[in-house]
Amino acid sequence: MVVSLEARPVRISPSLMCADFLHLAADLEALEAGGADYLHVDVMDGSYVPNFTLGPDFCRALARGSRLPLDIHLMIDLPDRHVPSFAAFPNAVVAIHPETSRHPLRTLDLIRSHGARAGIAIDPAMPLSAVTEMLPFVSLVCVMTVNPGYAGQKLVPSTLEKVRELANLVSARGLDIEIEVDGNVSWDNIPRMVEAGARVLVAGSSSLFDAKAPLPENLRRLCRLVGRPDQSNTRK
Ligand code: DX5
Ligand code: ZN
Repeated sequence: MVVSLEARPVRISPSLMCADFLHLAADLEALEAGGADYLHVDVMDGSYVPNFTLGPDFCRALARGSRLPLDIHLMIDLPDRHVPSFAAFPNAVVAIHPETSRHPLRTLDLIRSHGARAGIAIDPAMPLSAVTEMLPFVSLVCVMTVNPGYAGQKLVPSTLEKVRELANLVSARGLDIEIEVDGNVSWDNIPRMVEAGARVLVAGSSSLFDAKAPLPENLRRLCRLVGRPDQSNTRK
């Protein structure tokens, strides 16, 4: 059954590249107890993007330390080589940037064949028209709202319109797709992003890992901002 966009809850996918790795175990516990829905893992290869970040070993540690499903964002060239290392984690979703694969539909199939849900991520410079053929084959579209590669960047404003256009397309075609936003998902930008149609928020240094307050407090603030009930008394 396709859930209409309005009825979809807003989900929270903490961006683990912004976490303090020296406190990871405690932070994972706080995220699970506080109502986070996914763990967003940014995988960067120093080629498709200039930076290096997380990899399969980190994902394995997360899967041991938390029950939350992994939301794996591959920012890597020629992803087919590495899909098997990422797509077998329980309930994972794995998203590729389609321009990194010669045959994106084949890569999406490969992701599914290893047990994960398949997704695509759209660079701010890529128009929606470049990916419409792929929409029937994905369960998540990550609209990059900054240029991929680094935390702490400013929103590319035109991407909000892309979220809206995508949300309209998804509901017009009756597709069952989660629309995610990634990059500068800040306290100020979140209401605009949700209003445009985003239903999964990749929460990084601009909100959840904002050093001005402790993580559990930021998570409560985030839940309140998107109209989610306070989890702190109901879950352990
Ligand atoms: C970019 C990353 C960041 C990350 C950090 O490739 O994917 O967008 O989530 O979040 P912010 O932008 O809040 O530091
Ligand atoms: Zn990401």
